[in-house]
Amino acid sequence: MTINRLSNTIGAEVVGVDADVLVKDDDLAAEVLRAIGMHGVVVFRDFDITPEMQVELCSKWGDIDRTPGHHPVSGIYRVTLDVTKNVAADYLHGTFHWHIDGCNGQGEECPQMATMLTAVAVAAEGGDTEFASTYTAFEDLSEEERMLVTGLRVVHSLEASQRKAHPDASTEDVARWRARPSSEHPLVWTHRDGRRSLVLGASADHVVGMDVEEGRNLLADLLDRATTPDRVYRHQWSVGDTVIWDNRGVLHRAGHYESTSSREMLRTTILGDEPIQ
Ligand code: OGA
Ligand code: MN
Repeated sequence: MTINRLSNTIGAEVVGVDADVLVKDDDLAAEVLRAIGMHGVVVFRDFDITPEMQVELCSKWGDIDRTPGHHPVSGIYRVTLDVTKNVAADYLHGTFHWHIDGCNGQGEECPQMATMLTAVAVAAEGGDTEFASTYTAFEDLSEEERMLVTGLRVVHSLEASQRKAHPDASTEDVARWRARPSSEHPLVWTHRDGRRSLVLGASADHVVGMDVEEGRNLLADLLDRATTPDRVYRHQWSVGDTVIWDNRGVLHRAGHYESTSSREMLRTTILGDEPIQ
């Protein structure tokens, strides 16, 4: 097994190991887990992992979200805009905007630790997935900017993320989103291992104690700078590819694809146990 970097800031590709071997080998699996933490995103091309093996592999790394979905295998959730395969498909329009999984402004404590996607059908056009490191986003700030952002707290809300996905929403929709509890997180997350990252993305609404517009401009500027093309790894999917990302230090988004597309990803979520603090 070899691990090759895909860019200067984020991403690595694992080559030379088959899914059935990795699932059975604790040492190799531990090495891949280290690579996920170190590189943020780990890619397996032509991996052809089965849904059962995908759940088995992810279970080696943590507790799996087993909320019943529409897939027969427990721990697998279909990511598709096809409503016949996922009744909650509409909600997935939010994936077109930079976000951190499980940091969604709904009173959450610990965002998900990692997310794995395997492509079973790809879009005819678009549908790449882009990733950017939130550790790099912090490291790239000047000393002065670090002082400015450290200690700031940000309100995250369902409304903020859903408004971006549904700009023409009805007043009823907006009222429904507003009725949900929001969350407050520090802008700078000091992780258990001492690394620091910026907590940004679609759910970030405003900065506590700052003029709302000024806070929004700051958040937008930080997000823009975190996601410039030179800081992004963009995965162009082929059927059989598997990608996993360390959700604690990564922002991601799906490139636009048509709602009628048959694009379908099988997703497994590894739950987190580290609060944003
Ligand atoms: C997700 C997600 C992106 C994609 O499943 O959390 O953001 O490209 N998916 O489908
Ligand atoms: Mn996501």
